[in-house]
Amino acid sequence: PRRVRTRHFQNAKANGIPITGLTSYDQMTARIFDQAGVDFLLVGDSAGNNVFGYETTLPVTVDELIPLTRAVAHAVSRAFVVADMPFGSYESGPEEALHTAVRFMKETGAHAVKLEGGVRSHKQIRRIVGAGIPVMAHIGFTPQSEHGLGGHIIQGRGDSAQQLLDDAIAVQEAGAFAVVLEMVPSGIAAEVTKRLDIPTIGVGAGPDVDGQLLVWTDFAGMSDGRVPKFVRQYANVRQVLFDAVTAYRADVESGAYPAPEHSYE
Ligand code: KIV
Ligand code: NA
Repeated sequence: PRRVRTRHFQNAKANGIPITGLTSYDQMTARIFDQAGVDFLLVGDSAGNNVFGYETTLPVTVDELIPLTRAVAHAVSRAFVVADMPFGSYESGPEEALHTAVRFMKETGAHAVKLEGGVRSHKQIRRIVGAGIPVMAHIGFTPQSEHGLGGHIIQGRGDSAQQLLDDAIAVQEAGAFAVVLEMVPSGIAAEVTKRLDIPTIGVGAGPDVDGQLLVWTDFAGMSDGRVPKFVRQYANVRQVLFDAVTAYRADVESGAYPAPEHSYE
């Protein structure tokens, strides 16, 4: 299959073909999602919660994400791989942002980077794009600033709709090839999608966007915690694994495993 490139995102928007994305943090899921035709894989700093067991994404470091991103990038043959820039790796300015983006590109084989923030990050986006590295922007609810935003709060409601629109236009003008809209009302997501030339990727942004992105552990039912309202759970992988492990333990304890066919003469 032909590799997905940034032009695929542009063509998809132009032709009204929805773009599908999932997070991935390891080579096994990356291979499965790639073979199933997912257009892009985000090695998200949601690895903080889903891999490393942190409460938030704030403690995640570049050094933690690099091996995960490398595993995903090496596993795919078609999907476009986006490296998520963690908190503290780009906020001080364009030079810090470029330094981090270059590390991801050199050390992992990712095809693009993602960072959070609209107007506040436009200089960083412009500098990275200027070095030939595609940038996926991320506006609306931005988990790295959850304390500044006052919690997991829907963004772009009422008066803040104008801020969301300003953020969207700022990242497009800075050269982002796509923008993630996280937890925003469907109406304003539709408005942003109509106003922008670059594709919008919704995470809890309703149906009127150019693509969808979900955290794989949420959509596949891996975690036993609560999942956001916007997630449709497509599988209950946690239950499948739980049942398999329970059966395995019972077989070991009863002596039913290993059977003769699992044993060497
Ligand atoms: O880290 C992540 O998984 C993300 C998406 C939820 C947008 O940034
Ligand atoms: Na993220």
